Amino acid sequence: MSETKKTATLTIDDASYDLPVHSPTSGPDVLDIRKLYAQAGVFTYDPGFTSTASCESTITYIDGEEGVLTHRGYAIGDLAGKSHYLEVCYLLLYGTLPTTTELEEFENTITHHTMLHEQMVNFFRGFRRDAHPMAIMVGVVGAMSAFYHDSTDINDPRQREIASHRLIAKMPTIAAMAYKYTIGQPFVSPRNDLDYASNFLRMCFAVPAEDYEVNPILSRAMDRIFTLHADHEQNASTSTVRLASSSGANPFACIAAGIACLWGPAHGGANQACLEMLKEIGSVDRIPEYIARAKDKNDPFRLMGFGHRVYKNMDPRATVMKESADEVLELLGVEDNPLLQVAKELEQIALNDPYFKDKKLFPNVDFYSGIILEAMGFPTSMFTPIFALSRTVGWISQWKEQLSDPAHKIGRPRQLYLGEDVREYVDIENR
Ligand code: SDX
Repeated sequence: MSETKKTATLTIDDASYDLPVHSPTSGPDVLDIRKLYAQAGVFTYDPGFTSTASCESTITYIDGEEGVLTHRGYAIGDLAGKSHYLEVCYLLLYGTLPTTTELEEFENTITHHTMLHEQMVNFFRGFRRDAHPMAIMVGVVGAMSAFYHDSTDINDPRQREIASHRLIAKMPTIAAMAYKYTIGQPFVSPRNDLDYASNFLRMCFAVPAEDYEVNPILSRAMDRIFTLHADHEQNASTSTVRLASSSGANPFACIAAGIACLWGPAHGGANQACLEMLKEIGSVDRIPEYIARAKDKNDPFRLMGFGHRVYKNMDPRATVMKESADEVLELLGVEDNPLLQVAKELEQIALNDPYFKDKKLFPNVDFYSGIILEAMGFPTSMFTPIFALSRTVGWISQWKEQLSDPAHKIGRPRQLYLGEDVREYVDIENR
């Protein structure tokens, strides 16, 4: 915990309570209320945790007002432009950029953990062919705890590290298998001579009848998408992983819980929902109708890919993603993709509309990613599995950080109870 310099005083009725104030490296001060209930007999109330710090962390920092995102102090724009996903994985896991030797050893370890236990293939065959790939990923990742017993002891740092490597290495294989299963094509095994992103693209798009030649620009764009989604502070799915971990659950169960939470359209499911929205809008002339619906309090419709709990400025990931979209679509000769035209026009209209400006609703990471992924040949159902694959390193880094804190304890929030007071039971004949 950071050094406590200041205190805040809370006065309730005629009693005053001093609350320690912690000053972070960056960001707002934090009031420490851990002893508040014991001292004052009151709870704080913050559904949605809009003003609550759930932990201390050294991994990722977001300045929502300025649109800043850093991992271990390095700006996301630098990492997306100069680094690559497995180096970012090393940075998130270990806290420093690797030396050449350290990176080679790490990449070699990940490369040699990409295969899945052959019996796990049976899990895929239990699903209907029209199962959503996220349903398959939740099930298969949770089932890893039944196959990798030698890396489930969370109190053994070496087992924690092996579980981390296995999850980072196997998620592309699992996601690709989920995709192949839903389209009725045979699974494609990973290859050790390919880099992480190229391996994933080949496992998704190669078929026995002909191999898949990975285009280096597409694999670079894929790798950049992985990097842009790697970690994001205490978002809903990361908080889910931390809460599951706080009970002592094994790493595979914790990550399966994170995948389940990410699936929601308000979170990681937004990339699929955003592309489906762009397709529903269909053309630039229909944008005003949807902008009006997004502003209508009586209409549950929201502009998917817009808004963010933390960013009240442009999501820096969206900026990089937009550049990548232009590059990929030009390479594929679809730069006049009507969806991209609708997206760019929608962005401009929304950014100049008083409703969106007043509420500081900017495009987020999900706004452009779907356009790139669809241009690469992925169905919308694969967008969130790719987000889950990318975020696994963030989940597991936060999981490791929490377990490394000797003071960590089970998460158990309280509530504001507004239900019935104690009352007598009434026999059914008297009701
Ligand atoms: C991700 O937390 C993370 O870091 C997540 C993430 C990560 O990397 O892990 O960044 C990934 O989840 C990105 C967000 C993807 N979701 C979407 O694009 C779905 C659409 N966006 C919204 O549902 C919404 O913006 C949220 C869920 C993202 C944020 O919601 P908040 O912070 O709870 O804000 P809110 O719902 O209270 O909205 C504030 C106001 C409301 O209006 P009022 O009630 O105040 O009048 O803004 C409005 C909302 O109605 N609003 C929108 C809107 N988002 C918010 N209006 C229209 N369209 C939208 N997209």
